[in-house]
Amino acid sequence: MKPAGKNQRRSKLTIGVLYGGRSGEHDVSLCSAASVVAALDKTKYDVVAIGIDRDGRWYVQDRPEIIADKDFGRILSLKKKGAWLVNHFEDRNRLHLYDMDSRGKKVVVDLVFPVLHGTYGEDGTMQGLLELARVPYVGVDVAGSAIGMDKDVAKRLLAQEGVPVVPWITVSRSDWLARPQKILRGALKRLEMPVFVKPLRTGSSVGIKKVKVKKDLAPAVDYAFGFDTRIMIEKGIDCREIECAVLGNEDPRASVLGEILPTHEYYSYEAKYLDPEGAKMNIPAKIPARLAAAIRKCAVLGFRALNCNSMARVDFFLDKKTGAFYLNEINTLPGFTGISMYPKLWEATGLSYSALLDRLVELALARHREKSAVITG
Ligand SMILES: Nc1ncnc2c1ncn2[C@@H]1O[C@H](COP(=O)(O)OP(=O)(O)O)[C@@H](O)[C@H]1O
Ligand SMILES: [Mg+2]
Repeated sequence: MKPAGKNQRRSKLTIGVLYGGRSGEHDVSLCSAASVVAALDKTKYDVVAIGIDRDGRWYVQDRPEIIADKDFGRILSLKKKGAWLVNHFEDRNRLHLYDMDSRGKKVVVDLVFPVLHGTYGEDGTMQGLLELARVPYVGVDVAGSAIGMDKDVAKRLLAQEGVPVVPWITVSRSDWLARPQKILRGALKRLEMPVFVKPLRTGSSVGIKKVKVKKDLAPAVDYAFGFDTRIMIEKGIDCREIECAVLGNEDPRASVLGEILPTHEYYSYEAKYLDPEGAKMNIPAKIPARLAAAIRKCAVLGFRALNCNSMARVDFFLDKKTGAFYLNEINTLPGFTGISMYPKLWEATGLSYSALLDRLVELALARHREKSAVITG
């Protein structure tokens, strides 16, 4: 088959927005994508929305529709019409999609914006596919994405760079099955109650439990193992939750800080998505300027320590009693709806939502040029 568009004059960049996906955060992605598709500047870009269903099938959306929804605001529809096959080896630097139902029809995109959260979107696997395709893409590279997704690996690297992290222990399923009593004793010796039990590679608070009394620890561990093969038990901090947006490749910048004020006991899945009044957001966070400066500096340090580029939202806990702060986690594909923290923090720092999208496209192209110059084959 002849490579498409080779001799065609293409003035606009065609951006493929990937959304949905095989992830517990599929629905969140439909919301993020609705805002991204609507806000990408159509005078600069042709936008192709590509929905991925929960089983991982890709569908090019001829007419992407925004469906209103009361809790989340806007949601992008995902119509399962015509299954599209990805061929990533035919043409350098572009992603080819073929309609398996009507032979010959194809879509070619110049740059991919994976608006995908969690598993198979934020964890380096999709980034790996896009690397194979040699197509420029928005967001963190393979390694940084995979590291950011794994709370244990991330914390070990952060600790090594001197970034403060909350004390924790990691438990594998095989260890838990072999020596549950030993693990419980060890955890209770090292960490005081309350503790948080978390799967290592989920997001949106899925699989997490706060444990206040000893007898609830083993069930919480069993519960977390329903979501991952490795879990962590972490000291609970009575904290304020502070978030910082970082943007850039070689010279990453930190935004002003925001604070999440959950109305629930902690920022649970219910508080995040089910209860419209589950949390309030304060931008900028009301904290002393010197402390804010230290947290912003730490956000950039953490971003670098985890080998990130492009963007990430860096989340902190600020201990209410001691005033100490800890880097909790780095989210490499943060929520991207018009009311999400990441774009809101940039807006408050002076970068509008659509200017932020332009910047992310520029960063993706710059990163791609840089990699193309050194990677052969
Ligand atoms: N060690 C902790 N101390 C206090 N609260 C915590 C702790 N760990 C998690 N939480 C609460 O649970 C929420 C989700 O945990 P987090 O580690 O951010 O996982 P996720 O990746 O699912 O967002 C946090 O925003 C916070 O409200
Ligand atoms: Mg979190």
